[in-house]
Amino acid sequence: MRHLINITDLTVEEINQLIDVADDIYAHPENYYEKCKNKILATLFFEPSTRTRLSFESAMLGLGGSVLGFSSAASSSASKGESVSDTIRMIECYADIVAMRHPKEGAPIVGAQKAIIPLINAGDGGHFHPTQTLTDLTTIRRKKGRLNNLVIGLCGDLKFGRTVHSLIEAMLRYENIEFVLISPEELQVPEYVKEAMNEAGVKWREVTSLEDAMPELDILYMTRIQKERFFNEEDYIRLKDSYILNLEKLENAKKDLSILHPLPRVNEISVEVDDDPRANYFFQALCGRHVRMALILFLLGIK
Ligand code: NCD
Repeated sequence: MRHLINITDLTVEEINQLIDVADDIYAHPENYYEKCKNKILATLFFEPSTRTRLSFESAMLGLGGSVLGFSSAASSSASKGESVSDTIRMIECYADIVAMRHPKEGAPIVGAQKAIIPLINAGDGGHFHPTQTLTDLTTIRRKKGRLNNLVIGLCGDLKFGRTVHSLIEAMLRYENIEFVLISPEELQVPEYVKEAMNEAGVKWREVTSLEDAMPELDILYMTRIQKERFFNEEDYIRLKDSYILNLEKLENAKKDLSILHPLPRVNEISVEVDDDPRANYFFQALCGRHVRMALILFLLGIK
């Protein structure tokens, strides 16, 4: 039995296979309609979500399974003081697989310790978000045809943005990847991410100007400033509009740049960019459904 807590819980081969299955699901969804008949997915979301929770639910429904769960800590027994570990042990009586999001870093590890069903981390605090990374990798491979030989710009809140941390950890394992980390100085990636990049020997650098970095990028991964993880509101207000991507800033970009964003967007991509063929963030949300279907099948051991 396997859990998915961190993207490195999967080998590169397994990730590539999941994307292959996601592509097959995209091409032939009818072959998958009954794969999870009589299986139940629980979505336990102690923190807000639109895409991640609904794409998990849509994924399970597309496989013929059923879903149950809650979408806020306030509507669960966590509000009465129940521990994560007890919630998981109880949910095992009602479901075959669980996707959990929690504001505390490490909560899914605690939840998985005694779990007898597969547990998927759907985001833990400012730490990791492995299924968003599977979504990102699927999008990149579909748009660029490869997961190697890429210059990847990550822009925005690189400190608290968990999708950034997981994406870097995943991309480190592919050939000839270079990272350009674009953020205000206060919002640079945490030390453990820098150590991982150094250990892997990839090329990376930190810059503050999006315009300067633009011409060399193959992928531009925009992110939201993570308001809920700031200690004081003044800092958030000062930093929230650090980067706003618009058509003018794209003038020096490559013609085949791919713009990604895990969403939700607040202000960091102006809506005029949405109609540019390089804007792939809504397509990315679709990719998330397919690869989560592939992941559910994999973790349940269904061929
Ligand atoms: C991201 C998250 O929850 O970390 N959203 C998502 O899952 N698509 C990004 C964000 O909230 O900024």
